Amino acid sequence: MSMTSNEKLKGWVKEWADLCQPDSIHWCDGSDKENQKLLDLMVKSGMAVKLNENKRPGSYYFQSDPSDVARVENRTFICSEKQEDAGPTNNWSDPTEMKKILRSMFKGSMKGRTMYVIPFSMGPLGSKIAHIGIQITDSPYVVVNMRIMTRMGKVVLDVLGNDDFVPCIHSVGAPLQPGETDKKWPCAPIESKYITHFPETNEILSFGSGYGGNALLGKKCFALRIASNMAKKQGWMAEHMLIMGITNPKGIKKYFAAAFPSACGKTNLAMLIPTIPGWKIECVGDDIAWMKFGADGRLYAINPEAGFFGVAPFTSMATNPNAMLSCKNNSIFTNTGLTPDGDVWWEGIGHDIPSGTITWTNEKYDAASGKPAAHPNARFTAPAKQCPVIDIDWENPAGVPISAILFGGRRPGTLPLVYQAFDWNHGVFMGSIVGSEVTAAAIGLKAGVRRDPFAMLPFCGYHMGDYFGHWIKIGENAPDKNKLPKLFNVNWFRKNPEGKFLWPGYGDNVRVLKWIFERTEGADIAMETAIGYVPKEGSIDVTGLNDVIKNIPELIKVDKNEWMAELELINDHYAIFGNRLPAEMKKQHEGLVTRLNKAK
Ligand code: GTP
Ligand code: SPV
Ligand code: MN
Repeated sequence: MSMTSNEKLKGWVKEWADLCQPDSIHWCDGSDKENQKLLDLMVKSGMAVKLNENKRPGSYYFQSDPSDVARVENRTFICSEKQEDAGPTNNWSDPTEMKKILRSMFKGSMKGRTMYVIPFSMGPLGSKIAHIGIQITDSPYVVVNMRIMTRMGKVVLDVLGNDDFVPCIHSVGAPLQPGETDKKWPCAPIESKYITHFPETNEILSFGSGYGGNALLGKKCFALRIASNMAKKQGWMAEHMLIMGITNPKGIKKYFAAAFPSACGKTNLAMLIPTIPGWKIECVGDDIAWMKFGADGRLYAINPEAGFFGVAPFTSMATNPNAMLSCKNNSIFTNTGLTPDGDVWWEGIGHDIPSGTITWTNEKYDAASGKPAAHPNARFTAPAKQCPVIDIDWENPAGVPISAILFGGRRPGTLPLVYQAFDWNHGVFMGSIVGSEVTAAAIGLKAGVRRDPFAMLPFCGYHMGDYFGHWIKIGENAPDKNKLPKLFNVNWFRKNPEGKFLWPGYGDNVRVLKWIFERTEGADIAMETAIGYVPKEGSIDVTGLNDVIKNIPELIKVDKNEWMAELELINDHYAIFGNRLPAEMKKQHEGLVTRLNKAK
């Protein structure tokens, strides 16, 4: 039964129900009872395994179809009226054409299933910054995940009233014939998957996948691809960034945001446990930031999400205890291993694999096969409020003031451990050339370094050249330019010739955050180079890191030859934006060439 008097919403649900032909419609109220009922239903159908109540209370385990394990970038489309508005980095399709295809795909796609209507809020309920979406889905797995990742249910409808919402339509694309038994993880084959966005009408239609960013439409589809369009029109920012609080030993607290590509360390940095005394890190968010200027002229950020959808492999009590504690109960695990005593296991969890563990492909683990127990993109879904270091202001509708923004990626060479931009526009250039070694968070990418500007390559919902322009405009329109965040680039992943990481990473990253913190206060600890300010000798606190001290020169070096080679890559990267590349970016690029040519 519908729980709203919003006529537009009721009409929209009816229209899609008529097309998708579900057996029934369920309006999600977001209650514990409803959640438990769905989980019990999935256990009964064989889709979910209830984990051992003594080991992992309130938690459930899922194995996806082997073809449905990550975002599908080659099946993701921006359907703007004009192709040039999607730009060279997005797949484009004509909106009318795409809707025609989708209508035929969705027709009868929910036969034999229940259609769930999920009202959700991205951002604290009722906050001025928050936006409401309604997701229709035929996946109960999506419902229980959305309940952790967003504020969801009846309360959202009460806040919505008769207002407008972002319509999000999702089907796993696997209708059931009468009497047909369901697959454990229903989905459509890759060529029938469509993750589509209509930026002019703020609509999302997703077909054929049940996994992560393809299916939990509040996350990448809404909070980044659609929101980046809204942000450009309205003068704010929707970014693929963690948000963290950092307090120094004197008790002075600042907030940083950081944009790293998928599987490059946002969740880890957002909740790290410092290895140097007196410093404290608290987490506001681990994946997405919406930022606007506040009345005091500073840039404020909110986390639009309510949970973490984190990479499981190599998360351990040694590398990220706060993530481990966040998912110790009331969590969902997808594509990890399953132990005989009803707990989860993954590579790098910090203890040996219990014998008899079942892999994500539902086979008995066999070390000799060389196949891992967990898929490299296996994920946990955990409520943010369970994080031991969740920040006191993580739900503050006004957001938190940002003092520094960090960019970064996995770069085995060239990029120093940390460097600071000369000014805002130089920092925009720095963000525009972010690159990273390819990871498992997306299907079907070639190995090697790929350019991922601002970590937004798969998530910017419009022309990337215009997006660079938007960043420049944000700087120009800042109420007080002195209060703009300072911009930095970090690289935890530089390697020695033997392929070993030169920097210990994880909790020790606080040492770099300390340098950044001090730079935001204007400390004289930096050296000017052709690429920006790098740490002066001895200015990174490596107390107690005896094995690493010898690596520091290599970690912070700016090698002219390496950067000359990098310039070639930047040239190729910039060439694709044609005349939509802002003149300021060309100027920044030429500035770097000139400075490098002059450098020794
Ligand atoms: P998405 O959720 O895909 O956006 O990823 P993310 O940016 O949040 O990445 P996450 O923190 O989950 O880290 C991904 C992988 O990088 C994990 O396997 C981590 O163990 C590894 N990692 C994170 N931080 C570091 C680090 O400082 N050094 C090294 N060597 N590895 C790291
Ligand atoms: C990412 O790939 O950046 C993620 C995971 O955070 S997903 O939700 O699948 O997009
Ligand atoms: Mn992400």
